[in-house]
Amino acid sequence: MFAVEAIKLAKTFQTRQGPVKAVRNVSFAVAPGEIFGILGPNGAGKSTTILMLTTLLRSTTGSAKILGLDVDKDDAAVRNKIGVALQETGIDEVLTGKELVQSTGRLWGLSQSKASERSAELLSLVGLTDAADRRVKTYSGGMKRRLDLALSLIHQPQILFLDEPTTGLDPGSRRVLWNEIIRLRNEGVTIILTTQYLEEADALADRIAIIDNGVVELEGTPDALKASIGGDVILFSFETKEIAKRAGDSITNSEVTGRELRTTVNNGPQSIPNLFSILQANNIEAVAVSSSRPTLDDVFLKVTGHKLEAVKVHENDDLGNHGGV
Ligand SMILES: Nc1ncnc2c1ncn2[C@@H]1O[C@H](COP(=O)(O)OP(=O)(O)O)[C@@H](O)[C@H]1O
Ligand SMILES: [Mg+2]
Repeated sequence: MFAVEAIKLAKTFQTRQGPVKAVRNVSFAVAPGEIFGILGPNGAGKSTTILMLTTLLRSTTGSAKILGLDVDKDDAAVRNKIGVALQETGIDEVLTGKELVQSTGRLWGLSQSKASERSAELLSLVGLTDAADRRVKTYSGGMKRRLDLALSLIHQPQILFLDEPTTGLDPGSRRVLWNEIIRLRNEGVTIILTTQYLEEADALADRIAIIDNGVVELEGTPDALKASIGGDVILFSFETKEIAKRAGDSITNSEVTGRELRTTVNNGPQSIPNLFSILQANNIEAVAVSSSRPTLDDVFLKVTGHKLEAVKVHENDDLGNHGGV
């Protein structure tokens, strides 16, 4: 049985400006114990997909199953099995970390003493023991995301959904969360996480679905996705966008973004002289050229036709910054 199965999920929001097709066609299956990454830019439909999978939003068409349970028909049973840390959290920042975790434990039906025990355990798990008695509004972005994670783990879910758990975090806090996520997976928790960071998907996910415009365009292990490009990626840089565009017109099977041109060839080092002579024949001068093995960046560009421009990572995220959510 799959831990999570999305079958042709679609969601159209009716707005005053007309219908918005947030999710058009999302299908994938996640095996128990996997970390599954949903990679895509802002507005791709990641959060809407997570909301539907976690019973918080009804799909317009399609269906989803969690451990074989239908998210619409068996929503209460599904909620018992899953933990969710949403991108937009409504956590009460006036409370202390400990108070929040304890009261959430009470909501899940734990006795006062059990809730207190579990709270200490979880806060220590995410490294917040020292901050347990501080109000959440004094926490940094990274600390808040770790608290979100602790809250989502209270009822010991088998499946964890994390919507952009590290967006806006500095690299240090991001690494702490990555380690937490990997540790949870090693304990047997299935994890579905969304991200707009290629490196994050590459580093964490056993398998990745690339989503753009509400559609899963490609799915597979990071290595399989890179291998699907085949050969080497040649990257040319030019002085101006206009020159790059002219180069794109003369080199077949190339993608131009800004002042750069990418093309995939069987053997990079061997093909470069040939490509240079094509440019020369068209009176085009390159500023730089390189050959490399394909990255997820190249995969994303190939399947969607555009680059993944992730939001900038916040710097100086240590003092009361909202962590970009
Ligand atoms: N409640 C809503 N009403 C109308 N449009 C929405 C709503 N939620 C999301 N959208 C739109 O649907 C698209 C996908 O949004 P979302 O799922 O939040 O993407 P992501 O999480 O990948 O950034 C966006 O164009 C967004 O503006
Ligand atoms: Mg989102």
